[in-house]
Order: sequence, then structure tokens, then C-alpha cells
Amino acid sequence: PVPVIAIDGPSASGKGTVAERVARELGWHYLDSGALYRLVAVAAARAGLSLDDEGRLAETCAAMTIEFRDGKAWLDGIDASEDLRSEATGIAASKVAAYPRVRTVLLTRQRGFRRLPGLVADGRDMGSVVFPEARLKVFLTAALPVRAERRHKQLMEKGMYAKMPDVVEDLRRRDERDATRPVAPLRHYSDALFLDTSGMTADAAVATILGWWRE
Ligand code: C5P
Repeated sequence: PVPVIAIDGPSASGKGTVAERVARELGWHYLDSGALYRLVAVAAARAGLSLDDEGRLAETCAAMTIEFRDGKAWLDGIDASEDLRSEATGIAASKVAAYPRVRTVLLTRQRGFRRLPGLVADGRDMGSVVFPEARLKVFLTAALPVRAERRHKQLMEKGMYAKMPDVVEDLRRRDERDATRPVAPLRHYSDALFLDTSGMTADAAVATILGWWRE
């Protein structure tokens, strides 16, 4: 069977950077599952759909074509990379992600990324729902102020201006929504190794996970 490393955790914990680098070190594929939820949000915005309409959102989700190519995300053949990373998209993504029907449609798509020689998948429920058989499961987090700092830096680098208190508040609200929803709530599930990266560089976090994998 194709090995999977699942890396779950809250928004802006650094799991994306770390997961991508672990995948590169191992020469494996990488799945950014948050990007799929973000793409549903972008597709909904393009179609002018209400975020309250679970049925239409699930249909849109089933119909959309997605491709990760040349370091970009393509939605129905149009580059969605820039829209994907905005805070508004992240917030909309966490709303559409609370719908069971949207999650069911994305389940099959996510499992399709599992290909030889292996897959590193990051998200909220990679180890608990999508790849419960993953050989290594990590719950990666960091303190809220550290995560806000990381997200703020990321936004500024992309030329997206944001005020620090707003970033903190957005993250806090997103955590709350992701943690309290009935489907696939964000939590540290019991068979995942816990990694707090608050005082850690990305290099150190990558080395820790590779060490666990090789143990
Ligand atoms: O990780 P990222 O911030 O890109 O994820 C955007 C939103 O998508 C999250 O706030 C979360 O609600 C949702 N998500 C999810 N399950 C995943 C990945 C992301 O519900 N596996």
C-alpha cells in the first residue's frame, strides 16, 4: 500500500510549509487539503453562490475541475492562486467546510492524491477521516500569537495589507468554527503525535517529523 503521512493542525500553524518540505525530502506527493476547501469557496464566489446553500455548493464542488501545476492552482482552467490565499477565501472556506455534503464530495478527490511512492497530506482531518490508515500522524500547532505573526508575515509578503489585531481575531474565530463543527472538527486526535512549533524553526519541525518517520 502507498504510505501516507498525515499532518493536521489549525490555520497558520506552519503545517503547510512543513508538510511540503517533508514531502520534498522524501520525494513524495503533497496534498494541501485546505486548498481544496479554498477552491470550493473561490468557485462559489465566481458563480455568485450563497454560502448558505449547501446543495448548490456540493454540486459546484462535484463539478469543478482542479489542477495543481507550475506552482499554481487552476480552477476550471483559470488560475486561482491569488484568490486562494486571501483571508476572505480562508474564512469562506471554513464556512463551506462545515457542510457534510461538501466534505463527502471532497473525500474521494483527496484519496485520489494517494500515489506511489507516498503522500504527505496536510489539513484538519487527514489522519482522523481521510487517511485513517496513515502510517504516521502528526498534530502540528503553535500558540495563537505565533500563528498570527506567521500569517501576518505571509500576507504582507503577498502584498496583502492586514492589521495584526484583525489577523488574531480572524484566526481565533476560524479556530472556533473549525473546532466546534459537528463534522471533522479540528482536534488533537489520540493517535497523532503532538508537535508544538511555537519556538521552533521550520527546519527543526521538518527534522522532527522525518525522525519520527524513520524511527
Ligand atoms: O488550512 P487552510 O487555512 O488552508 O484551510 C482553510 C479552511 O478549510 C479551514 O479553516 C478549514 O475549515 C477547512 N479545512 C477543513 N479540512 C481540511 C482542510 C481545511 O475543514 N482537511
